[in-house]
Amino acid sequence: MTGEYLWIEGIPFPKTTTEDLRSLQDQFVVRDEDVITVSYPKSGTNWIKEIVNLIHTKGDSSWVQSTLSWERSPWLEVKEQLDLVVNQKGPRSYTSHLPVQFFPKSFFKSKAKLIYIMRNPRDVLISAYHFNKTVKVIKNTDSFEEHFEWFLQGKVMFGSWFDHVRGWLQMKGKENFLVISYEELYQDIRASVERVSQFLGVKLSPGELNSVLKNVSFQAMKDNKMSNFSLVSDAYMDHSKGKLMRKGITGDWKNHFTVAQSEAFDQVYREKTAGLPPGLFPWD
Ligand code: A3P
Repeated sequence: MTGEYLWIEGIPFPKTTTEDLRSLQDQFVVRDEDVITVSYPKSGTNWIKEIVNLIHTKGDSSWVQSTLSWERSPWLEVKEQLDLVVNQKGPRSYTSHLPVQFFPKSFFKSKAKLIYIMRNPRDVLISAYHFNKTVKVIKNTDSFEEHFEWFLQGKVMFGSWFDHVRGWLQMKGKENFLVISYEELYQDIRASVERVSQFLGVKLSPGELNSVLKNVSFQAMKDNKMSNFSLVSDAYMDHSKGKLMRKGITGDWKNHFTVAQSEAFDQVYREKTAGLPPGLFPWD
């Protein structure tokens, strides 16, 4: 067990205070030109950030090769990175794991573009299980069984996957909101990058598109020390315990869940996703 959470409205937040969260929500000014990536943790956040950053440079990799990913697209709710967000020049790009009800209110009156990436929660659970072992500032468990239970109960950072996704998907259909899934990226990265660039209003030539694709592959990001978290401080991450760029596949949950866990998950999944429009999730 490592760091503790701050619990607000039943949601555990890492490394923050109620005052900081509330002032972000009430006072942070979202600008119309901002491009924001939002996700529940371990859904492919860093992948979509990299794609957005490379679309911005039209496939020129020098920025992603020379600047840390959290400086290119800082975390809104990380206090030490908020100044980076505020002081970014030109159209700003930033990232957040905040549930919709905690997001800066000014966003909802803005034209800022927001991309919400989601992933099969079973794979999210597995990815988090491995990644959490490396992170020193979060409450952790070494037992897979306990992690499984905590995940289903929403006792993990940023709360319940089901609530996070249901909350943000209320925005679906708005012109400045794009939902994309890890599974879509995995299945057809070319079409996905085209979809994102169209949403951002950036026209890529075939050569530029190819260059984006080359730089957002699992291997390219794994090899890029600006993107692979190998430069995250030892105070925050124990690099001997795992990596951000772990497997990069869909369906890894099948290698971890027992039959009983799979059934238990399905039951909670059915209950918690009841009433959502059919065809919303590519993994169903
Ligand atoms: P795994 O742990 O399943 O390998 P996040 O960025 O939200 O923390 O999500 C991390 C997950 O996204 C990890 O999943 C990581 O391997 C995967 N990922 C990141 N970049 C990727 C890429 N270019 N291709 C495929 N998967 C990627």
